[in-house]
Amino acid sequence: SIMHFVHKETAMPTKNKRLLAWVEEIQAMVKPDKVEWCDGSQEEYDRHMKAMTESGLATKLNEEKRPNSFLFRSDPSDVARVEDRTYIATRKKEDAGPTNNWIDPEELKTTMRGLYDGCMKGRTMYVIPFSMGPIGSPIAKIGIELTDSPYVVVNMHIMTRVGQKVLDTLGEDGEFIPCLHSVGKPLGPGESDEGMWPCAPIEKKYIAHFPEENLIWSFGSGYGGNALLGKKCLALRIASALARREGWMAEHMLILRLTNPEGKQFHIAAAFPSACGKTNLAMLIPTIEGWKAECIGDDIAWMKIGPDGTLRAINPEAGFFGVAPGTSYKSNPMAMDTIVKNSIFTNCVLTDDGDIWWEDMNVKIDHGIDWKGNEWTPESKTPGAHPNARFTTPAAQCPIICEDWEDPAGVPIDIFIFGGRRTKVMPLVHEALDWDHGVFMGATAASEPTAAALDVKGLRRDPMAMLPFCGYNIGEYWQHWFEMGDKLGDKAPKIFYVNWFRKNDQGKFIWPGFGENSRILKWMCERVDGKVDAIETPLGMMPQVKDLDIDGLDMNEKDLEEILEVDTDAFVSEFDDLDSFVNSVSTTLPPRMEKQVAAYKARMKNS
Ligand code: GTP
Ligand code: SPV
Ligand code: MN
Repeated sequence: SIMHFVHKETAMPTKNKRLLAWVEEIQAMVKPDKVEWCDGSQEEYDRHMKAMTESGLATKLNEEKRPNSFLFRSDPSDVARVEDRTYIATRKKEDAGPTNNWIDPEELKTTMRGLYDGCMKGRTMYVIPFSMGPIGSPIAKIGIELTDSPYVVVNMHIMTRVGQKVLDTLGEDGEFIPCLHSVGKPLGPGESDEGMWPCAPIEKKYIAHFPEENLIWSFGSGYGGNALLGKKCLALRIASALARREGWMAEHMLILRLTNPEGKQFHIAAAFPSACGKTNLAMLIPTIEGWKAECIGDDIAWMKIGPDGTLRAINPEAGFFGVAPGTSYKSNPMAMDTIVKNSIFTNCVLTDDGDIWWEDMNVKIDHGIDWKGNEWTPESKTPGAHPNARFTTPAAQCPIICEDWEDPAGVPIDIFIFGGRRTKVMPLVHEALDWDHGVFMGATAASEPTAAALDVKGLRRDPMAMLPFCGYNIGEYWQHWFEMGDKLGDKAPKIFYVNWFRKNDQGKFIWPGFGENSRILKWMCERVDGKVDAIETPLGMMPQVKDLDIDGLDMNEKDLEEILEVDTDAFVSEFDDLDSFVNSVSTTLPPRMEKQVAAYKARMKNS
């Protein structure tokens, strides 16, 4: 009736017609028991946490030790991103390119509609209006996530900006990116999860992207990048495709500000593959006199050319979803001081005094409950925390968060760093000969597997750390990088490559890493300022040992020389792997990339 319709309209927190129609359409398909619009309030957060604690899914941590913080244990099968189940669905296969899983969009939608049909029975469908980037900023994008997971709701509260202000900014006709998510486990009448983490078996999981219509459909996983759709799905896969069309960049990069003893600021954006050191570098405390670092973002950078011609970067996120194991007061004290309160922990150990613990936290415990809910002691044969255990924590709580971290104008990037995790061969640091060479360095970056993705084996090329996150054809992505360099001209950032992860024959890391990485950043800043010369090698420009500040560093010169060596034979022996990777890009391989490959090979062979 008309009365009913009017009542429904006024009860809605938005008048955006497209949004209301979409919510109604999805509701009809997934058939939830009810629909709830999220307002992003503390009351909402507390209510969900209370309900999840009562059901047994969440454990409230000791209020004295870690106020307003909670531990979750996921299903043992649902602990990381699933790259094999992640799809870029474009009308033409070529547009997804050789590095993405492709399915025809109509075929994928048909399959997924089958899975979505009635998938929220027995559950509530939450409508989460969120902004990536400061609300109302010209660079920000609005997304709406529909989900049946209250765990996703509370995580989105921290990772993005959620609430009525987003809907107000959206207005009646504003554009948003629809993000549909379901854990894929409908409940029968009277049935409940019994405190267990709901998800679907691997063969029913789909993390689907439709870049031609800015649409995300995720089914079957409740974890991290599979479920918090503002992050990898929107801010990288959809945004990268959008960025290419609109002439900007969406990259898997941390952003930090470094200030030298004279007070000059440098802004650095660094792309390392998942679990290869972005959060750590983003929050480093320099070990060298007079240098100061501040954090702007730890995972994603959106960058546009500003009115002054410099490349301006913002962090579209509002929180950190960081790797827990390995985080300690020794390795990353600023992360430790960020997660002291208001934080969510997933798949960590629960200690006997109601706090959390993980491997290499530098704290000794005798007993706890492991990430699977079993008794755990240091003698146990399996790790207490899952290697991809994570913390979700508000960026604003970071003691060294930069005062300009939410500046909608962004910060001007001076330095790009690429890198990866390589036990051998790749030296500690080198610098690109020019922009095109830097694009080649990023494009051919290689890294060893980590726990951040379930299905990765062996050394793999991970171009710009975007292999799992580029929402279109990788050859066209490289071409976009070349063209951005043309547009930036002499204002283009200088490009470097690092490897913190070289190991000796005893399997120990040679470079001390973490705060000591500031010594390498210092050299980069001095290169930008033209203060130091570098040695030209077949790989690129390398520091002279005398120009690296190793004052007070507990490391012998032989080790340092070893990790600064360019072993041309080793690089030549990787030519086949390089060729097969580059050639796999085939029809969209930019001629400028081909030129770089040829020049690189010639330099290596002629040395
Ligand atoms: P994602 O959140 O998955 O994108 O990962 P990330 O790139 O932010 O990686 P993160 O900084 O969380 O580091 C992952 C792992 O690498 C942790 O176990 C760190 O302790 C370790 N790590 C980080 N920086 C260094 C370093 O300089 N040296 C060594 N040896 N290990 C490091
Ligand atoms: C990564 O894997 O790069 C992450 C974690 O940052 S996730 O959000 O799960 O993608
Ligand atoms: Mn990441």
